Amino acid sequence: MESCDSLPTVERLEFGSSIRDADRVICGDGFTVLAQLPDAVLDAIYIDPPFGTGLVQKGRGHRYVDRADDPDAFVAWLVPLLADSRRALAAHGSLFVHLDYRAVHYVKVALDRLFGRERFINELIWCYAVGGKGRRGFGRKHDTILWYSRSDDWAFYPDAVRVARRGGSHMRVVLDGGTAVQEKTDRKTGRVYRYPVAAGKVPEDWWTDIETLNHSDRERTGWPSQKPERLIERILAAVTRPGDRVADWFAGSGTTAAVAQRLGRRFVTTDREPQAIELCVARLSAQGRALAAQGAPPPPIEIDRQQ
Ligand SMILES: C[S@@+](CC[C@H](N)C(=O)[O-])C[C@H]1O[C@@H](n2cnc3c(N)ncnc32)[C@H](O)[C@@H]1O
Repeated sequence: MESCDSLPTVERLEFGSSIRDADRVICGDGFTVLAQLPDAVLDAIYIDPPFGTGLVQKGRGHRYVDRADDPDAFVAWLVPLLADSRRALAAHGSLFVHLDYRAVHYVKVALDRLFGRERFINELIWCYAVGGKGRRGFGRKHDTILWYSRSDDWAFYPDAVRVARRGGSHMRVVLDGGTAVQEKTDRKTGRVYRYPVAAGKVPEDWWTDIETLNHSDRERTGWPSQKPERLIERILAAVTRPGDRVADWFAGSGTTAAVAQRLGRRFVTTDREPQAIELCVARLSAQGRALAAQGAPPPPIEIDRQQ
Protein backbone atom coordinates (compact mmCIF):
# COMPACT_ATOMS: atom_id res chain seq x y z
CA MET A 1 0.00 0.00 0.00
CA GLU A 2 1.42 3.38 -1.00
CA SER A 3 1.17 6.39 1.28
CA CYS A 4 -1.29 9.19 0.62
CA ASP A 5 1.46 11.68 1.54
CA SER A 6 2.36 11.89 -2.15
CA LEU A 7 -0.90 13.78 -2.79
CA PRO A 8 -1.33 17.51 -2.21
CA THR A 9 -3.29 18.36 0.95
CA VAL A 10 -5.88 20.37 -0.90
CA GLU A 11 -6.17 20.76 -4.60
CA ARG A 12 -9.29 22.40 -5.92
CA LEU A 13 -10.71 21.72 -9.38
CA GLU A 14 -13.03 24.37 -10.78
CA PHE A 15 -15.35 23.86 -13.73
CA GLY A 16 -17.05 27.25 -13.82
CA SER A 17 -20.04 26.47 -11.60
CA SER A 18 -21.50 29.25 -9.44
CA ILE A 19 -21.72 26.72 -6.57
CA ARG A 20 -18.82 27.32 -4.14
CA ASP A 21 -19.32 24.34 -1.82
CA ALA A 22 -16.99 21.60 -3.16
CA ASP A 23 -17.45 17.86 -3.58
CA ARG A 24 -14.69 15.86 -1.85
CA VAL A 25 -12.21 13.19 -2.89
CA ILE A 26 -10.08 12.11 0.05
CA CYS A 27 -7.04 9.85 0.07
CA GLY A 28 -7.12 7.93 3.32
CA ASP A 29 -8.94 5.44 5.46
CA GLY A 30 -12.70 5.51 4.86
CA PHE A 31 -13.45 4.63 8.49
CA THR A 32 -11.54 7.67 9.75
CA VAL A 33 -12.99 10.12 7.25
CA LEU A 34 -16.53 8.91 7.96
CA ALA A 35 -15.99 9.31 11.70
CA GLN A 36 -15.39 13.04 11.12
CA LEU A 37 -18.76 13.57 9.40
CA PRO A 38 -21.71 14.98 11.36
CA ASP A 39 -24.84 12.89 11.90
CA ALA A 40 -27.63 12.57 9.30
CA VAL A 41 -25.92 14.46 6.46
CA LEU A 42 -25.98 11.84 3.69
CA ASP A 43 -28.86 10.78 1.47
CA ALA A 44 -27.25 7.62 0.11
CA ILE A 45 -24.13 5.56 0.69
CA TYR A 46 -22.94 2.89 -1.74
CA ILE A 47 -19.92 0.79 -0.79
CA ASP A 48 -18.03 -1.87 -2.70
CA PRO A 49 -15.52 -2.95 -0.08
CA PRO A 50 -12.77 -5.53 -0.47
CA PHE A 51 -14.61 -8.89 -0.28
CA GLY A 52 -12.22 -10.60 2.11
CA THR A 53 -10.87 -12.93 -0.58
CA GLY A 54 -7.20 -12.57 0.30
CA LEU A 55 -6.52 -12.22 -3.44
CA VAL A 56 -4.39 -9.63 -5.17
CA GLN A 57 -6.80 -7.78 -7.46
CA LYS A 58 -5.08 -6.87 -10.71
CA GLY A 59 -6.21 -4.41 -13.36
CA ARG A 60 -4.47 -2.77 -16.29
CA GLY A 61 -1.35 -1.44 -14.59
CA HIS A 62 -3.00 -1.23 -11.16
CA ARG A 63 -3.41 -3.63 -8.26
CA TYR A 64 -4.63 -3.71 -4.68
CA VAL A 65 -4.58 -6.46 -2.10
CA ASP A 66 -7.98 -7.63 -0.89
CA ARG A 67 -8.12 -8.30 2.85
CA ALA A 68 -7.18 -11.89 3.70
CA ASP A 69 -9.64 -12.28 6.54
CA ASP A 70 -11.89 -15.15 7.43
CA PRO A 71 -15.58 -14.18 7.23
CA ASP A 72 -15.94 -13.46 10.95
CA ALA A 73 -12.85 -11.25 10.93
CA PHE A 74 -14.12 -9.55 7.76
CA VAL A 75 -17.44 -8.73 9.42
CA ALA A 76 -15.67 -7.53 12.57
CA TRP A 77 -13.57 -5.22 10.39
CA LEU A 78 -16.54 -3.86 8.43
CA VAL A 79 -19.15 -3.47 11.18
CA PRO A 80 -17.81 -0.20 12.68
CA LEU A 81 -18.02 1.38 9.21
CA LEU A 82 -21.55 0.08 8.67
CA ALA A 83 -22.66 1.40 12.06
CA ASP A 84 -21.08 4.78 11.44
CA SER A 85 -22.61 4.91 7.95
CA ARG A 86 -26.02 4.47 9.54
CA ARG A 87 -25.29 7.39 11.87
CA ALA A 88 -24.34 9.62 8.93
CA LEU A 89 -27.52 8.84 6.95
CA ALA A 90 -30.46 11.24 6.90
CA ALA A 91 -33.81 9.80 8.02
CA HIS A 92 -34.86 9.07 4.42
CA GLY A 93 -31.37 7.81 3.49
CA SER A 94 -30.20 4.39 2.34
CA LEU A 95 -27.09 2.24 2.51
CA PHE A 96 -26.11 -0.15 -0.30
CA VAL A 97 -23.43 -2.76 0.44
CA HIS A 98 -22.00 -4.58 -2.58
CA LEU A 99 -20.69 -8.08 -1.79
CA ASP A 100 -20.19 -11.49 -3.34
CA TYR A 101 -21.11 -15.03 -2.32
CA ARG A 102 -18.17 -15.30 0.08
CA ALA A 103 -19.18 -12.53 2.47
CA VAL A 104 -22.78 -11.55 1.83
CA HIS A 105 -24.48 -13.92 4.28
CA TYR A 106 -22.25 -12.93 7.15
CA VAL A 107 -22.67 -9.22 6.47
CA LYS A 108 -26.45 -9.59 6.04
CA VAL A 109 -26.79 -10.85 9.61
CA ALA A 110 -24.62 -8.01 10.90
CA LEU A 111 -26.67 -5.43 8.98
CA ASP A 112 -29.95 -6.87 10.31
CA ARG A 113 -28.61 -6.36 13.82
CA LEU A 114 -27.44 -2.81 13.12
CA PHE A 115 -30.39 -1.49 11.12
CA GLY A 116 -33.17 -3.88 12.18
CA ARG A 117 -34.60 -6.58 9.90
CA GLU A 118 -37.52 -4.35 8.98
CA ARG A 119 -35.08 -1.85 7.44
CA PHE A 120 -33.88 -4.43 4.91
CA ILE A 121 -35.41 -3.21 1.65
CA ASN A 122 -33.90 -5.38 -1.08
CA GLU A 123 -31.38 -8.04 -1.82
CA LEU A 124 -30.34 -6.86 -5.27
CA ILE A 125 -28.87 -9.58 -7.46
CA TRP A 126 -26.61 -8.25 -10.20
CA CYS A 127 -26.11 -11.00 -12.79
CA TYR A 128 -23.41 -11.14 -15.43
CA ALA A 129 -22.07 -13.74 -17.81
CA VAL A 130 -18.45 -12.93 -18.53
CA GLY A 131 -15.56 -14.94 -17.11
CA GLY A 132 -14.96 -18.64 -16.54
CA LYS A 133 -17.72 -21.24 -16.38
CA GLY A 134 -18.39 -23.66 -13.50
CA ARG A 135 -16.96 -27.19 -13.84
CA ARG A 136 -17.92 -28.76 -10.54
CA GLY A 137 -20.91 -26.56 -9.84
CA PHE A 138 -22.89 -23.75 -11.43
CA GLY A 139 -20.97 -20.69 -12.57
CA ARG A 140 -20.85 -18.03 -9.87
CA LYS A 141 -22.17 -15.18 -11.92
CA HIS A 142 -23.77 -12.67 -9.63
CA ASP A 143 -22.96 -10.18 -6.92
CA THR A 144 -25.37 -9.18 -4.18
CA ILE A 145 -26.09 -5.63 -3.12
CA LEU A 146 -27.83 -5.33 0.25
CA TRP A 147 -30.07 -2.29 0.60
CA TYR A 148 -30.97 -0.98 4.07
CA SER A 149 -32.90 2.17 4.91
CA ARG A 150 -32.23 4.46 7.86
CA SER A 151 -35.94 4.69 8.79
CA ASP A 152 -39.33 3.49 7.55
CA ASP A 153 -39.63 6.71 5.54
CA TRP A 154 -36.95 5.99 2.96
CA ALA A 155 -36.74 7.81 -0.37
CA PHE A 156 -37.53 5.82 -3.52
CA TYR A 157 -38.13 7.33 -6.96
CA PRO A 158 -39.60 4.52 -9.10
CA ASP A 159 -40.13 6.69 -12.17
CA ALA A 160 -36.39 7.37 -12.35
CA VAL A 161 -35.53 3.71 -12.83
CA ARG A 162 -38.22 2.34 -15.12
CA VAL A 163 -37.12 -0.13 -17.79
CA ALA A 164 -38.85 -1.34 -20.94
CA ARG A 165 -41.48 -4.03 -20.51
CA ARG A 166 -40.28 -7.28 -22.06
CA GLY A 167 -42.22 -8.83 -24.90
CA GLY A 168 -42.87 -12.57 -24.87
CA SER A 169 -44.12 -12.62 -21.28
CA HIS A 170 -47.28 -14.49 -20.25
CA MET A 171 -49.22 -11.23 -20.71
CA ARG A 172 -50.67 -10.48 -24.11
CA VAL A 173 -50.34 -7.04 -25.67
CA VAL A 174 -53.65 -5.43 -26.67
CA LEU A 175 -54.73 -1.96 -27.72
CA ASP A 176 -56.65 0.00 -25.12
CA GLY A 177 -58.04 3.19 -26.67
CA GLY A 178 -55.08 3.31 -29.06
CA THR A 179 -52.53 2.64 -26.28
CA ALA A 180 -50.59 -0.63 -26.27
CA VAL A 181 -51.05 -2.37 -22.92
CA GLN A 182 -49.93 -5.69 -21.50
CA GLU A 183 -52.98 -7.42 -20.12
CA LYS A 184 -53.53 -10.26 -17.71
CA THR A 185 -56.64 -11.69 -16.09
CA ASP A 186 -56.61 -12.99 -12.54
CA ARG A 187 -58.03 -16.51 -12.87
CA LYS A 188 -59.57 -16.53 -9.40
CA THR A 189 -61.20 -13.10 -9.33
CA GLY A 190 -61.60 -12.50 -13.06
CA ARG A 191 -60.11 -9.06 -12.56
CA VAL A 192 -58.25 -7.69 -15.59
CA TYR A 193 -54.93 -5.88 -15.10
CA ARG A 194 -53.55 -3.57 -17.81
CA TYR A 195 -50.04 -2.10 -17.89
CA PRO A 196 -49.19 0.52 -20.56
CA VAL A 197 -46.18 -0.75 -22.50
CA ALA A 198 -44.74 2.75 -22.99
CA ALA A 199 -44.65 3.42 -19.22
CA GLY A 200 -42.14 0.61 -18.70
CA LYS A 201 -41.85 -0.99 -15.28
CA VAL A 202 -39.84 -0.78 -12.10
CA PRO A 203 -37.18 -3.50 -12.36
CA GLU A 204 -37.32 -6.59 -10.20
CA ASP A 205 -34.61 -7.18 -7.59
CA TRP A 206 -32.52 -9.26 -10.03
CA TRP A 207 -30.71 -7.38 -12.75
CA THR A 208 -29.57 -9.11 -15.92
CA ASP A 209 -29.45 -6.05 -18.15
CA ILE A 210 -26.14 -4.57 -16.93
CA GLU A 211 -22.99 -6.42 -18.03
CA THR A 212 -19.61 -6.20 -16.31
CA LEU A 213 -17.10 -3.99 -18.09
CA ASN A 214 -15.10 -5.80 -20.75
CA HIS A 215 -11.44 -5.02 -21.37
CA SER A 216 -12.04 -2.68 -24.27
CA ASP A 217 -14.88 -0.79 -22.60
CA ARG A 218 -14.49 2.99 -22.86
CA GLU A 219 -15.41 3.27 -19.19
CA ARG A 220 -12.45 1.12 -18.15
CA THR A 221 -9.85 2.92 -16.06
CA GLY A 222 -7.58 -0.05 -15.35
CA TRP A 223 -8.54 -0.25 -11.66
CA PRO A 224 -9.40 -3.84 -10.71
CA SER A 225 -13.01 -4.66 -9.83
CA GLN A 226 -14.29 -1.42 -11.36
CA LYS A 227 -18.11 -1.46 -11.44
CA PRO A 228 -20.20 -0.29 -14.42
CA GLU A 229 -21.63 3.20 -14.19
CA ARG A 230 -25.08 1.90 -15.22
CA LEU A 231 -25.22 -0.22 -12.08
CA ILE A 232 -24.46 2.68 -9.76
CA GLU A 233 -26.69 4.98 -11.80
CA ARG A 234 -29.72 2.76 -11.22
CA ILE A 235 -29.04 2.74 -7.48
CA LEU A 236 -28.45 6.48 -7.12
CA ALA A 237 -31.37 7.39 -9.38
CA ALA A 238 -33.65 5.15 -7.30
CA VAL A 239 -32.98 6.86 -3.97
CA THR A 240 -31.63 10.37 -4.63
CA ARG A 241 -32.56 13.55 -6.47
CA PRO A 242 -30.28 16.23 -7.94
CA GLY A 243 -28.47 18.06 -5.14
CA ASP A 244 -28.69 15.11 -2.73
CA ARG A 245 -25.51 13.92 -0.98
CA VAL A 246 -23.88 10.61 -1.78
CA ALA A 247 -20.84 8.84 -0.28
CA ASP A 248 -18.62 5.90 -1.16
CA TRP A 249 -15.83 4.99 1.30
CA PHE A 250 -14.13 2.56 -1.14
CA ALA A 251 -13.85 4.69 -4.26
CA GLY A 252 -11.49 2.58 -6.37
CA SER A 253 -11.63 4.22 -9.79
CA GLY A 254 -14.33 6.61 -8.56
CA THR A 255 -17.39 5.10 -10.22
CA THR A 256 -19.85 6.35 -7.58
CA ALA A 257 -18.38 9.86 -7.67
CA ALA A 258 -18.41 9.90 -11.49
CA VAL A 259 -22.08 8.90 -11.60
CA ALA A 260 -22.94 11.38 -8.86
CA GLN A 261 -21.17 14.18 -10.73
CA ARG A 262 -22.95 13.33 -14.00
CA LEU A 263 -26.38 13.11 -12.29
CA GLY A 264 -25.92 16.34 -10.34
CA ARG A 265 -25.62 14.70 -6.92
CA ARG A 266 -23.08 16.00 -4.39
CA PHE A 267 -20.45 13.53 -3.21
CA VAL A 268 -17.68 12.60 -0.83
CA THR A 269 -15.49 9.60 -1.58
CA THR A 270 -12.36 8.03 -0.10
CA ASP A 271 -9.75 5.43 -0.98
CA ARG A 272 -6.59 4.57 0.89
CA GLU A 273 -4.63 3.96 -2.34
CA PRO A 274 -3.13 7.10 -3.93
CA GLN A 275 -3.23 5.41 -7.35
CA ALA A 276 -6.98 4.94 -7.02
CA ILE A 277 -7.40 8.59 -6.04
CA GLU A 278 -5.34 9.70 -9.04
CA LEU A 279 -7.53 7.66 -11.40
CA CYS A 280 -10.68 8.93 -9.72
CA VAL A 281 -9.56 12.56 -9.97
CA ALA A 282 -8.53 12.19 -13.63
CA ARG A 283 -11.94 10.69 -14.37
CA LEU A 284 -13.88 13.41 -12.56
CA SER A 285 -11.73 16.12 -14.06
CA ALA A 286 -12.29 14.89 -17.63
CA GLN A 287 -16.03 14.46 -17.09
CA GLY A 288 -16.27 17.82 -15.31
CA ARG A 289 -14.67 19.58 -18.28
CA ALA A 290 -16.99 17.74 -20.69
CA LEU A 291 -20.06 18.74 -18.65
CA ALA A 292 -18.83 22.35 -18.55
CA ALA A 293 -18.39 22.32 -22.33
CA GLN A 294 -22.03 21.20 -22.61
CA GLY A 295 -23.09 24.20 -20.51
CA ALA A 296 -23.68 22.27 -17.27
CA PRO A 297 -20.53 22.83 -15.17
CA PRO A 298 -20.47 20.67 -12.04
CA PRO A 299 -19.49 22.04 -8.60
CA PRO A 300 -15.79 22.27 -7.71
CA ILE A 301 -13.95 19.27 -6.31
CA GLU A 302 -11.48 19.34 -3.42
CA ILE A 303 -8.87 16.60 -3.37
CA ASP A 304 -7.49 16.06 0.08
CA ARG A 305 -5.67 13.52 2.19
CA GLN A 306 -6.99 12.31 5.48
CA GLN A 307 -5.91 14.53 8.38
C1 LIG B 1 -13.62 -3.28 -4.80
S1 LIG B 1 -12.63 -1.86 -4.88
C2 LIG B 1 -13.78 -0.58 -5.29
C3 LIG B 1 -14.00 -0.47 -6.79
C4 LIG B 1 -14.95 0.66 -7.18
N1 LIG B 1 -16.32 0.36 -6.82
C5 LIG B 1 -14.87 0.98 -8.66
O1 LIG B 1 -15.90 0.94 -9.35
O2 LIG B 1 -13.77 1.27 -9.13
C6 LIG B 1 -12.31 -1.58 -3.18
C7 LIG B 1 -11.43 -0.38 -2.89
O3 LIG B 1 -11.39 -0.19 -1.48
C8 LIG B 1 -10.14 0.41 -1.16
N2 LIG B 1 -9.97 0.27 0.29
C9 LIG B 1 -9.73 -0.85 1.01
N3 LIG B 1 -9.71 -0.59 2.33
C10 LIG B 1 -9.96 0.74 2.47
C11 LIG B 1 -10.10 1.62 3.57
N4 LIG B 1 -9.96 1.19 4.82
N5 LIG B 1 -10.40 2.92 3.33
C12 LIG B 1 -10.52 3.39 2.07
N6 LIG B 1 -10.40 2.60 0.97
C13 LIG B 1 -10.12 1.29 1.17
C14 LIG B 1 -9.15 -0.32 -2.05
O4 LIG B 1 -7.97 0.44 -2.23
C15 LIG B 1 -9.97 -0.49 -3.34
O5 LIG B 1 -9.71 0.55 -4.25
